Amino acid sequence: MKVLVTGGAGFIGSNFVHLTLATRPDAEITVLDKLTYAGSLASLDGVLDRVRFVEGDVADPELVDGLVAGADLVVHFAAESHNDNSLDDPAPFVRTNLLGTFALLEAVRRHDVRYHHISTDEVYGDLELDDPKKFTEDTPYNPSSPYSSTKAGSDLLVRAWVRSFGIRATISNCSNNYGPRQHVEKFIPRQITNVIDGVRPKLYGAGLNVRDWIHVDDHNEAVWTIVEQGRIGETYLIGADGEVDNLTVVRLVLELMGQDPDAFDHVTDRAGHDLRYAIEAGRLRTELGWTPRYGTFRDGLAATIEWYRENEAWWRPMKEATEARYARTQQVLAR
Ligand code: NAD
Ligand code: DAU
Repeated sequence: MKVLVTGGAGFIGSNFVHLTLATRPDAEITVLDKLTYAGSLASLDGVLDRVRFVEGDVADPELVDGLVAGADLVVHFAAESHNDNSLDDPAPFVRTNLLGTFALLEAVRRHDVRYHHISTDEVYGDLELDDPKKFTEDTPYNPSSPYSSTKAGSDLLVRAWVRSFGIRATISNCSNNYGPRQHVEKFIPRQITNVIDGVRPKLYGAGLNVRDWIHVDDHNEAVWTIVEQGRIGETYLIGADGEVDNLTVVRLVLELMGQDPDAFDHVTDRAGHDLRYAIEAGRLRTELGWTPRYGTFRDGLAATIEWYRENEAWWRPMKEATEARYARTQQVLAR
């Protein structure tokens, strides 16, 4: 099977490439990636000779048309993915997340190619901390940030192309991923690499916000399950019942790294900060038989810490610029 993976030099996309080559050796993979600040060829170390890598923009219709024409399947990961950046400058989010998806949809329509759209639980907005409900596939869209609103818009484009043009597409909306090769701007790698550097972790506000953590390999196995068994036109939520509040995560990182669990700083909160995400993944589990394989969050976090300890050469080049960007907008409020 010829698979076009967009965003395959980013966090989840590169892990998808590694997992696919390890578990589905017949897959012929082409990666399309613009290598923005978030993409790194080093994330494909060890497999670059087994994939065709194309540096380019997913919002370039001609480039995309040619690549889609030669594929049996498109898995679309490429996006501007970081909420904080979208508050600073929404323009690349609108361009990549909306126009990039539009270019792909037009190409898969022309060439009748199977398409899987990677999206996020953030399209549903947020939940109250004490709300017993979780997000389901029927939860109304209510995105909060420029990032999540462009992802919501891209999902709606996919739904419209399925209904109006009959493209063969599925959508998945996943919760927060963790694991190797995640950019150090994101919560967990930022804190791990801060501790390695002797810097106190930075917690937004009081740290009561809850995220529903899933290991990136569990996400990517779910994506393959949907590609292979999912119903065309359907949306599947992906989550592994991993709700943890940010304060607990920071304390756990510190504890696992042999530090005082209270040695962190409270910094300026994110504007419009979503309170809680929680996924009900019943459709994926009962209809398609998917189940997460990764162990506890604590074990997964310990393995992720180990990965960052052993792969400083991967993250060091991006650390200084990331912290300089944060320093412009975030102040320490309390220790
Ligand atoms: P990431 O920022 O780590 O990687 C994004 C990749 O896309 C990078 O390699 C970047 O170079 C590439 N890219 C950006 N703009 C591009 C463009 N115009 N053309 C081609 N390539 C471009 O993101 P991630 O965390 O791996 O997220 C991947 C996808 O998964 C996104 O669609 C995101 O919305 C979705 N998602 C992420 C999470 C999460 O927890 N990280 C959870 C659910 C869904
Ligand atoms: O839910 C899925 C989403 O998860 C994906 O769609 C996004 O692409 C991905 O970035 C992630 O979004 P979040 O905004 O939840 O992730 P982030 O890692 O930026 O932050 C996680 C939580 O940690 C959030 O409540 C903000 C908080 N935070 C973040 C940083 C960077 C901190 O407290 N301190 C920090 O330094």
